[in-house]
Amino acid sequence: MKLLHIMASPRGEKSRTLTISNEFLTTLKLKYPNLTIEELDLFQVKLPEVYGNTVDAKYALMAGGILEEQSKASWEEISNYSNEFLSYDAFLISCPMWNFTIPYKLKHYIDVIMQAGILFNFTANGVEGLASNKKMYCITSRGNDYSENSPMHQFDFQEPYLRAIFGLAGIFDISFINSQPMDFTHGITLTNLSLAKEQAVSMAQHTVL
Ligand SMILES: Cc1cc2nc3c(=O)[nH]c(=O)nc-3n(C[C@H](O)[C@H](O)[C@H](O)COP(=O)(O)O)c2cc1C
Repeated sequence: MKLLHIMASPRGEKSRTLTISNEFLTTLKLKYPNLTIEELDLFQVKLPEVYGNTVDAKYALMAGGILEEQSKASWEEISNYSNEFLSYDAFLISCPMWNFTIPYKLKHYIDVIMQAGILFNFTANGVEGLASNKKMYCITSRGNDYSENSPMHQFDFQEPYLRAIFGLAGIFDISFINSQPMDFTHGITLTNLSLAKEQAVSMAQHTVL
């Protein structure tokens, strides 16, 4: 059993999101000692650009065509990321909210991996996700409060987006911990951080892989 930890905060040890995620992973590892956890730190890797030959290749393949010679290498780089994603059984996404949604590095990663024929297929009946047997956990933190009763709720484009885009790949089993608000006062940050850590421990204890 393999879990990929997709890290989308550049703040390393200072990151609230990653602090909460570490709590989740430590508890999960106690529960499943044989679980392999691999990290993908999106602010440390150089993701392939999605343009030129790569985009040409994407459209050629969607049209059922054959790849031109100059597209093969860049397409291989992109499709390796997508196939690699598919090789995991579960995912943890650690993601602060940036500008009401996800940080650009995570969006870049999603633009790389979301490939027809690998993570989903277009069929006569619509889109069919090819990763439907996978589980996903998302731990987010936000400066403001976007919970259901907050006037800011309508501006949460993070959780709905992550649910929608990974739903395209067939991943509907997604659990969220949204730690918020984190930027009001130091005291509120500490209280919310410890609450989120408790939630993370509980989520790990209830996880069935
Ligand atoms: C570039 C940037 C954009 C941000 N945009 C938002 C935002 O739209 N809404 C919000 O509530 N907080 C926003 N924040 C605050 C972070 O979401 C918040 O401080 C979070 O706890 C940071 O998580 P981290 O410590 O894991 O990096 C932003 C922070 C940065 C650096």
